[in-house]
Amino acid sequence: MKINGTPMRTIRPGADGASVEIIDQTKLPHRFEMLTLASVEDAKQAILTMQVRGAPLIGVTAAYGLAFALRRDASDAALADAIALLAKQRPTAINLKWALEEVRRVVEPLPAAARASAAFDKAGAIAEDDVETCRRIGMHGLELIRAIAAKEPAGAPVNILTHCNAGWLACVDWGTATSPIYQAHDAGIAVHVWVDETRPRNQGAALTAFELGSHGVPHTIVVDNAGGHLMQHGKVDICIVGTDRVTANGDVANKIGTYLKALAAHDNGVPFYVALPYSTIDWTIASGRDIPIEERSSDEVLKLQGRLANGALVTVELAAPGSPAANPAFDVTPQRLVTGFITERGVAPATRAGLISLYPEQCESAA
Ligand code: MRU
Repeated sequence: MKINGTPMRTIRPGADGASVEIIDQTKLPHRFEMLTLASVEDAKQAILTMQVRGAPLIGVTAAYGLAFALRRDASDAALADAIALLAKQRPTAINLKWALEEVRRVVEPLPAAARASAAFDKAGAIAEDDVETCRRIGMHGLELIRAIAAKEPAGAPVNILTHCNAGWLACVDWGTATSPIYQAHDAGIAVHVWVDETRPRNQGAALTAFELGSHGVPHTIVVDNAGGHLMQHGKVDICIVGTDRVTANGDVANKIGTYLKALAAHDNGVPFYVALPYSTIDWTIASGRDIPIEERSSDEVLKLQGRLANGALVTVELAAPGSPAANPAFDVTPQRLVTGFITERGVAPATRAGLISLYPEQCESAA
């Protein structure tokens, strides 16, 4: 997608052909800074500190990290160690493990001398595949938005609520939940997006709003608790969110607070769609009860980063001194609250049968 008219991606090979460049998302929306990753430690740190975040993007970054590790030591033991190191940085998003396994599958049969360069190429291929997959998710989701627009009074926008950032900053390009929105906007359909701020890290207010604004998509930031009120008052036509892991029965792990949005949508008859690539489906888990939920630092709840009028980035304390905080980063929305999945293969009900109808080749392996 574009920033100030310039097409951008979240991750790209460096000019030296050996490193990769990322956008440092911890500085957005206040500063746009690129960082170079050239070692497995760099990749690990970028994932851990959320300089890169979002399920597909951490997968791509980890794949490059594995290539860096193999450049130093391409033995079987080093391969296993690097996969274990990278995989444990963000436990909920299955794309991370998926991407590492994709690289392992390619390099394991190769002689040690060929592994690092094959891994680097595979990481690039995973990135390219993500771009095309997200483009196709948008193509299918666009039709849902178009159908709603056809029922709106002339000129009235389709009001879409989204949570967290499942945009191009969470992927390589397009995004999952935002791809249908960008494609609708580009097709001349009037859209307006309610952007949940998404405490504690504010990925909505900081990242989704930045993306949508940069592409010229009308949007309004709301506090997380406003969603139910907006739905009660008929101000949301459709919710579209992303996901970090979908289980074989259709349960959905996504950023904390997604479940409450789904409950409010269900209570108010608002369609609630989850946009995802095939790499987000964990066919080995039967239901959302078994998804590991990442616990993050209480500092994210107790403190907030922002920009002063003089441009300085500062962190301030928010809460009563000494009070503890808990910070589960994701929740699980049961499939009964999800209207449907928007995937690169089309739209289907959020059920085991719906998933299998899209991915019949998984019929045997699904838990
Ligand atoms: O903790 P984050 O910022 O990595 O969480 C991101 C989300 O929850 C996204 O909705 C999810 O990864 C889907 S991204 C296309």
